Amino acid sequence: MNSPTPSLILKSDSEARTLQIGHAIGDAMTAGTLIGLNGTLGAGKTRLTQGIGERLGIEHGQIVSPTFTICVPHEGRIPFLHLDAYRIQSPEEVDELGLDEMLENGVSLIVEWVDLIKTLLPAIDLEIQIEAPAEDSRNLLFYGLTDNGQQMLNALKLKNLEQS
Ligand SMILES: Nc1ncnc2c1ncn2[C@@H]1O[C@H](COP(=O)(O)OP(=O)(O)OP(=O)(O)O)[C@@H](O)[C@H]1O
Ligand SMILES: [Mg+2]
Repeated sequence: MNSPTPSLILKSDSEARTLQIGHAIGDAMTAGTLIGLNGTLGAGKTRLTQGIGERLGIEHGQIVSPTFTICVPHEGRIPFLHLDAYRIQSPEEVDELGLDEMLENGVSLIVEWVDLIKTLLPAIDLEIQIEAPAEDSRNLLFYGLTDNGQQMLNALKLKNLEQS
């Protein structure tokens, strides 16, 4: 984790609530944004990505954990690439994706298990750590690491998500 103090912490007590938080992130997202997700198996990284994707115009069911490939491209309001670093075996696999160029061309990236490949990635705008203290309960810790990431967090804070 980059910063010891998250700029925002949101609690989720259901899958639906995590999707709702994802919607708010999707609404705040602009082209060429890199979002990194961390959290153990089953923490909710893919659920959150489904919520983000819904607001980018992607049907919920189309976003699944990439099983046989490490990434899946989606064409939404913003084109975005859903990447799962868990299955990456070598730095070359990341290099071959040409992520810098994609971001420059306005593709946004959402990377699950981002800590595993952090040193191989361009600057991460927004990092989200998902803690799972109990079966349905999740804490989402947000770190805005660039101006873009901080602007997204400001937009999220204005939605008063912590009160709903
Ligand atoms: N508050 C919650 N938010 C999100 N998911 C929840 C919540 N409570 C329970 N769940 C359950 O946790 C699981 C989250 O699965 P998901 O595939 O999103 O995790 P993941 O972090 O992507 O795992 P993986 O590391 O395997 O990719 C789902 O089965 C979901 O129903
Ligand atoms: Mg997943």
